[in-house]
Amino acid sequence: MSTPSSGTAAPALEAEQLRLAYGDHVVFSDLDLEIARGSVTTLIGANGSGKSTLLKAFGRLLAPASGRVRLYGSPLRGQSARQIARQMAILPQKPLTPQATRVRELVSRGRHPHQSLLRTWRQSDTLAVNEALGVTGLSDLAERDAASLSGGQLQRAWIAVVLAQEAPVLLLDEPTTFLDLSHQLEVLRIVRRINRERGTTITMVLHDLSLAARFSDRLVAVHDGRVVADGDPWSVLTPRVLRSAFALDASVVADPQTSTPLVVPHELSS
Ligand SMILES: Nc1ncnc2c1ncn2[C@@H]1O[C@H](COP(=O)(O)OP(=O)(O)O)[C@@H](O)[C@H]1O
Ligand SMILES: [Mg+2]
Repeated sequence: MSTPSSGTAAPALEAEQLRLAYGDHVVFSDLDLEIARGSVTTLIGANGSGKSTLLKAFGRLLAPASGRVRLYGSPLRGQSARQIARQMAILPQKPLTPQATRVRELVSRGRHPHQSLLRTWRQSDTLAVNEALGVTGLSDLAERDAASLSGGQLQRAWIAVVLAQEAPVLLLDEPTTFLDLSHQLEVLRIVRRINRERGTTITMVLHDLSLAARFSDRLVAVHDGRVVADGDPWSVLTPRVLRSAFALDASVVADPQTSTPLVVPHELSS
């Protein structure tokens, strides 16, 4: 894994006075947020609250109207795509699966940032791909056409693509969408393991609040273009925050097994 060369004391990611907009539709007007190295941070918020927009700005898929994003202390603007891709891997909310592509080929795309005109495929690339296939439990499916995978397998294949990139920062937008509960758990366990074993900094978006609480060090709740709560899962998942950010009446109880907060919704507020 590459070691970031600059700003060794800087957070993995920093948003500074960030203004994010689509034309004249402003989603965030002045956002400051830091993502600590080695942490798992999950953005939560209602549909349309701006979670993907923020993740896209962190991943330089969306240019800020003003303000800046720093990666290990260096502004994203001015860095080459390859430079960024060696440090940060992004799984978008709706990745497009290419036609007629074997799983191994798809996962190999994660190695592109490590190639150049002078630096073609090496054994280290094969090792990284094999490792990513192994961690996601896809070794036996490596020669299958990606289009033939089940939803859960395909989602794991996309996780494998970003793992093969061996970037120290991962951005995952709803990595568990369309998965049944046991496959959601499986993906999140992989994410947690990567964080623990490699020290990978992970920022993701999840819809399931109880799973977000269980697998994250920190939750950041966004609503109406602002961060309305930010901290450890117990401090963020309070009935008050759930009411303001999600218009949800809910109790929050301790998971008997993990002691993390479980959100028990009652009914929608009118
Ligand atoms: N490409 C786009 N063009 C215009 N508006 C967009 C675009 N993407 C998102 N938006 C709008 O920005 C707001 C935030 O969207 P998004 O970040 O996707 O929310 P979330 O991921 O929290 O559901 C919404 O009002 C959405 O309609
Ligand atoms: Mg989204």
